[in-house]
Amino acid sequence: MRAGVPRETAPRETRVSLIPAGAATLRKAGLEVAVEAGAGEAAGFPDAAYAEQGASILPRGDVFRTSDILLQVRATPVAGPLKSGQTIIGFADPLGAPQASREVATTGASLLSMELMPRITRAQSMDALSSMATIAGYKGVLLAANALPRMFPMLMTAAGTVSAARVFIMGAGVAGLQAISAARRLGAKVEAYDVRPVVKEQVQSLGARFVELPLESSDAEDKGGYAKAQDESFYRRQRELMLKVIAANDVVITTALIPGKRAPILVTREMVEAMAPGSVVVDLAAERGGNCELTVPDEVVVHRGVTIIGPSNPPALVPYHASQMYSKNITTFLLHLLGKDGAQKPALALSTDDEITRETLLTHGGDVVHPRVRELLGQPA
Ligand SMILES: NC(=O)c1ccc[n+]([C@@H]2O[C@H](COP(=O)([O-])OP(=O)(O)OC[C@H]3O[C@@H](n4cnc5c(N)ncnc54)[C@H](O)[C@@H]3O)[C@@H](O)[C@H]2O)c1
Repeated sequence: MRAGVPRETAPRETRVSLIPAGAATLRKAGLEVAVEAGAGEAAGFPDAAYAEQGASILPRGDVFRTSDILLQVRATPVAGPLKSGQTIIGFADPLGAPQASREVATTGASLLSMELMPRITRAQSMDALSSMATIAGYKGVLLAANALPRMFPMLMTAAGTVSAARVFIMGAGVAGLQAISAARRLGAKVEAYDVRPVVKEQVQSLGARFVELPLESSDAEDKGGYAKAQDESFYRRQRELMLKVIAANDVVITTALIPGKRAPILVTREMVEAMAPGSVVVDLAAERGGNCELTVPDEVVVHRGVTIIGPSNPPALVPYHASQMYSKNITTFLLHLLGKDGAQKPALALSTDDEITRETLLTHGGDVVHPRVRELLGQPA
């Protein structure tokens, strides 16, 4: 059984799905590993490092043609010919772009989505959304610090006192909590807010102040721990109450997401205009439409002296460690899926009795099999 690692082809994608250490892990489990020439280059992993771990370095066409399992960062849109019986694993944006799953289904290949990994203890080391959010939160703070005409720490020097930067984090999930830690480590004064009241203690334990708004949001969390979408009147009230908090900060970092939905607008033009010139907004939700009304993905917008930065793929700005973490997530997932055949060779057993397989499996046997994605495609249950 062979696992193949194609080079990623999406614009600005610098990550690779498997690093040399991951290739070694798969080899130990009895798999062959084929890596497209140059696949790890942008992330700092040369072909020779894969070859040293026993991987074959092949042209792209051969990786697609000869692999039983394809490991990708972005599994869709599919960037090569798939065939029946092949399995492809990666981010597939199943709720945002479900038609891509239908396209894979027509090839007969099985597609497993990293986004749909259940948030259960057993699957923690396979949770790529969390590992990528960790990187985004950290990098978001550095982008802000770099663009801010101030320093983050409070300093008392012979040349006078420098006050600490004030940083406001909106959305205190995995990315937001990591942003709080990174901003605190740089010495900023940090506040944070989230619709899910359960995060208050986590925010405080990282040394930040939790901003409370008198808003009803008891029903803010679904059973997977994700935020639920609220109605427009909630978002309007939230924006009204938020203006003052935002105006009092030098940096705003937004991370608010709702699975499968456009990111909610939390920072309006009016709020940006209420910020002091020189302030910075980093919008880590840019890929999903952005939390700031003025965000233009992958551009630096300066509006009345306020800089708005919206990287569409923040983990790709830290490709080495993003690939290392993703590689650990995807190899753990693959090893979980592998059983042994009669001859004690590794074999893929996609059994939907297993919760992790059931929740992540999008296509199998020529059909889209995931109930939520079938519903989005208007297919019968
Ligand atoms: N294995 C596990 O058990 C596991 C793994 C990872 C995460 N989790 C939990 O899931 C939570 C959410 O995960 P995530 O970071 O991937 O979420 P996410 O990326 O989907 O969203 C980021 C944050 O934005 C918040 N948000 C959404 N709408 C908002 C609004 N209008 N205003 C303010 N904030 C808003 C969400 O509540 C969330 O905290 C985590 O905090 C964690 O507790 C559990």
